[in-house]
Amino acid sequence: MKEVIQALARKKNAIILAHNYQPPEIQELADLCGDSLELSIRAAKTTADIIVFCGVHFMAETASILCPDKTVLLPNTDAGCPMADMVDPAALSARKKALGDIPVVTYVNSSAAVKAVSDICCTSANVIQVVNALDSDQILMTPDKNLAKYAAGHTDKKIHLWEGYCPFHNDLTPQDVAAAKQNHPEALFMAHPECPSEILAMADTIQSTSGMIQYAKTSSLHQFIIGTEIGLLHPIAKANPDKQFFAASTRMYCTDMKKISLADVKNSLETLDGEIRVTENIRKKALGAVQKMIDMT
Ligand code: 13P
Ligand code: SF4
Repeated sequence: MKEVIQALARKKNAIILAHNYQPPEIQELADLCGDSLELSIRAAKTTADIIVFCGVHFMAETASILCPDKTVLLPNTDAGCPMADMVDPAALSARKKALGDIPVVTYVNSSAAVKAVSDICCTSANVIQVVNALDSDQILMTPDKNLAKYAAGHTDKKIHLWEGYCPFHNDLTPQDVAAAKQNHPEALFMAHPECPSEILAMADTIQSTSGMIQYAKTSSLHQFIIGTEIGLLHPIAKANPDKQFFAASTRMYCTDMKKISLADVKNSLETLDGEIRVTENIRKKALGAVQKMIDMT
């Protein structure tokens, strides 16, 4: 199946991008696996005619915002992000106005329509850089309250929160982490900034998904507890074959990130089903926020 799909992709001049949380067989198929920032940058640069985005809806939308002349396919269009659904453009615009029109920093885990009413986007890999580069002492961050609290700890600016969260990262408890640390006393604990602040306070390092892979590569330690969605266990173990990785909690399983199957990818490439396109009006406005982030990082 892998060879059939890769041959089909070559024939159609398609690139297959996969997020680090995708099922192992999808990651093995992809031309590039990465975190949200790496995938957006790669999408922006590709010369392929078709981008097959194995991730969730907002990721394919971001690729479409950056590459309007390309066909962007999400092989299973049911793959969404519950956190992205926790903010809508009308409510965001109203809150921005109520706060005196301060800049809005929007996590890429959001719809194109929300990006369109935002000043700049960020990912888990560049949030601190983005927040500190803005010329304002007050910022509204959306939709992730945990990411916003993390940023607030690394800036002198006043950060206003939006009450969104990732259900899987937000669910990780100090008891889970304490139990994992007890079971693996030699292990270093890495947390994703979508985790609550009490978890981040227990972390030895806070990283994006690809940041965790890189950190493990350069660390002299051999055991790691991974405080993010458990799909990351595949690429991090593959990149570090001599090291051991343990899930901080097996409840950190994002069902949307597991919706795409090999059959979906094959079908989507054959039929071009699952095309994601952002209307031109929204796209132009959203592009400003996404491009500003990419240029900055
Ligand atoms: P990163 O891979 O950018 O760290 O993002 C995590 C995530 O939750 C994507 O949905
Ligand atoms: Fe959204 Fe959380 Fe799933 Fe990432 S892991 S796609 S933030 S629900």
